[in-house]
Amino acid sequence: MRVVRTIAQLRAELSGCPPVALVPTMGNLHDGHLSLVRLARQHAGAVVASIFVNRLQFLPHEDFAEYPRTFERDCELLAATGCDIVFAPTEAEIYPEPQDYKVAPPPALADILEGVVRPGFFTGVCTVVLKLFNLVQPATAIFGKKDYQQRLVVHKMVRQLALPIEIIAAETVREETGLARSSRNSYLSDAQHVEAARLHVVLQEAVDEIRAGSREWAALERRALVALSAHGWRPDYVAVRKRADLSVPCADAPLVILAAAKLGRTRLIDNIEI
Ligand code: PAJ
Repeated sequence: MRVVRTIAQLRAELSGCPPVALVPTMGNLHDGHLSLVRLARQHAGAVVASIFVNRLQFLPHEDFAEYPRTFERDCELLAATGCDIVFAPTEAEIYPEPQDYKVAPPPALADILEGVVRPGFFTGVCTVVLKLFNLVQPATAIFGKKDYQQRLVVHKMVRQLALPIEIIAAETVREETGLARSSRNSYLSDAQHVEAARLHVVLQEAVDEIRAGSREWAALERRALVALSAHGWRPDYVAVRKRADLSVPCADAPLVILAAAKLGRTRLIDNIEI
C-alpha cells in the first residue's frame, strides 16, 4: 500500500492504474469504514482511500479541531484490508487558496434534517467530494448508508453533473448493541456508550410499529423523541421520510426513519430503512 500526500504524487501513482474504487473518509477508521474498503475491493482493480478532515463541512462551533486524527493506525488498518493507495493530503494541498467555488446542493434535499442543524454542511461535503472525484477520477465510489442524507446528496450530484462514477451504498456496520459505528463514538464515556445504543432501539421500535401497519408518522416521531429525552438525550430530529428524496411520506413508497440526537456533547445520527 502506498501513502501519498500530494496531488502530483497521486497522479503519478494513478497513471496506468486499473479502474479505481474510491472510499472517501475523514480518518479515525473503524469497521464501518473498513467494510467500505472491502466492498470497494469487489468493484474495482484498485482501491484508493482518502483521509482528509474537511474544514469546509464543520461549523465554527463544531469539532473540527478535536476530530480524532489517528493516521498511523488508519494506515495499518487500510493496509490489512486491501487498500492500494491512501491519499492523505494536507489542507494546503486541497485548499491552497480560499475555496470560493462551491457546490451548492438543492435546498429541498440539503437544507432539511442534517442541513437544518448544520447549515452549509452538504455544501462542504459536495465541494470536497467533487474535488476528490476530480483528483482520483474513480470509476466507483463507496458511501455508507449510515450517513443516509449524505449518500443521497452525493448520488444526486453525480447524476445531475453527469460524472462518470458509480456510487455504491454500503450497509451500516453496528456494534452488538445496535449502536452504529462512528468516529464520534470515541467521545462517549463508558456509561454514555451503553446508553448510546438507545438511539437504534428507539428507531427499531418505530420501525416495528410501521411494519405492523401504523401510519401515524407524527405520533411515532413524537414518541421516539420523548423516549430519547427521557434518558437525557437532546434530539435534533426523528423523521419518517421517503427513501428516494427524504420528502414527507405520501402514498406507499419505500421509507426510512432517520434520527440525530446529542448525548452529552456527542452528536450521533442513525437511520433504518423500513
Ligand atoms: P466519515 O465520517 O469518515 O465517513 C466516511 C464514510 O464511511 C462515509 O461514506 C460514511 O457513511 C461511512 N461510514 C461511517 N460509519 C459507518 C458505519 N458504521 N457503517 C458503514 N459505513 C459507515 O462521511 C464522511 O467521512 C465525510 O463527510 C466525507 C464523505 C469523507 C467528506 O468529507
